Amino acid sequence: MAASRRDVNYDESKVPAYTLPDPLILNNGEPVTDAQTWYSRRRPEILELFKTHVYGKVPGPPTRFYYEIFEEDSNALDGRAVRKQVWISFTGDSSGPGMEMLIYLPKEADQPVPFFLGLNFHGNHSIHSDPKIKLPDSWMRPKEGVNDNRATEAGRGLSSDRWPVELILSRGYGLGTVYYGDIDPDYHDGFQNGVHPLFYREGQTEPESDEWGAIGAWAWGLSRALDYCEKDSQIDAKRVSVMGHSRLGKTALWAGALDERFALVISNNSGCGGAALSRRRFGETVEIINNAFPHWFCRNFRQYNGREDELPVDQHMLIALIAPRPVYVASAEEDLWADPRGEFLSALGADPVYRLLGTDGLAATEMPPVNQPVHSRIGYHIRTGKHAVTEYDWRQYLDFADRHLSAE
Ligand code: GCU
Repeated sequence: MAASRRDVNYDESKVPAYTLPDPLILNNGEPVTDAQTWYSRRRPEILELFKTHVYGKVPGPPTRFYYEIFEEDSNALDGRAVRKQVWISFTGDSSGPGMEMLIYLPKEADQPVPFFLGLNFHGNHSIHSDPKIKLPDSWMRPKEGVNDNRATEAGRGLSSDRWPVELILSRGYGLGTVYYGDIDPDYHDGFQNGVHPLFYREGQTEPESDEWGAIGAWAWGLSRALDYCEKDSQIDAKRVSVMGHSRLGKTALWAGALDERFALVISNNSGCGGAALSRRRFGETVEIINNAFPHWFCRNFRQYNGREDELPVDQHMLIALIAPRPVYVASAEEDLWADPRGEFLSALGADPVYRLLGTDGLAATEMPPVNQPVHSRIGYHIRTGKHAVTEYDWRQYLDFADRHLSAE
């Protein structure tokens, strides 16, 4: 029988013994002792392993870049913000298809602002009650009470507790978001909708076993949003933090690993297939996630159902791919499904790479107590409460970005 939520282990004493692959040993067994070898040999090896075995290979950017700012208001949010809504083509073609990006910038800024970028679960209109945000036309992820796969006014502002726009602006940052369903609707249809078919070779009908699933597609979309940031003179594209929650936290980590233009990466409660170590099999496991969400990873990842020890990587190596850029892993005390300890140990497992590259790594060897964040180059906190994005989380991310991305 396939593993399900009923077989889940939440008992620390039942975590099996395991050995993590060493991020600083090359595939041929030689140790990595200098930064040059990390960048030129080991990092490409690890990236390739994640592409082949976990998330799948991702196409490059479209050969041309095409976007349209279809709405702009320099007196948005009671005069506090500049709002822009931008349509970004996936193919470089003005006829599409494409995605819509919602942007808020602090109004008083006199130079390009640092920026947070994140995908959202329920449509751009869900992040704020602002009546001017366009409703998405694409398939909508069902939400309790608002449930017909089409965006309606009822969804406006419904996720605003996760997106403290005014707070972010007051701290001098801009915010950009894209509805993840614009890039690839989050259900398994054999990859007929979303961006995948745009990249099929002649005659291809679905991704190969080592090609991208939905997480790869969402990460690709984040890079296209970053392409836009590079075109906007009001945004400092060299100081873009990519942030995501849960499945979109897995996506933020993968986007940060793939695209080194992201200056800072934030994983909020990303759990299995995100920050949490797979080998611990605590909470959600590789088998459970592949059964429940067969479209998220590449097909090769299914070979590791119940065979985590055979994976040539574990998730600490995903975090290591972000080095030496600042990365923040956030857990929640009651979010056992995402294995908070496994998320911490993964951050810790990336520490030797960060130190090799001359940073302070993770300034903790034990898991810190709740609500006592660590803001070294690898940041970590476990806060009280459930699987969610809270204002507490955002205040940490703002402080962390202030500390690590202040203009030189
Ligand atoms: C499910 C899934 C998690 C995922 C979460 C989410 O709980 O099992 O892996 O992180 O959904 O994205 O909300």
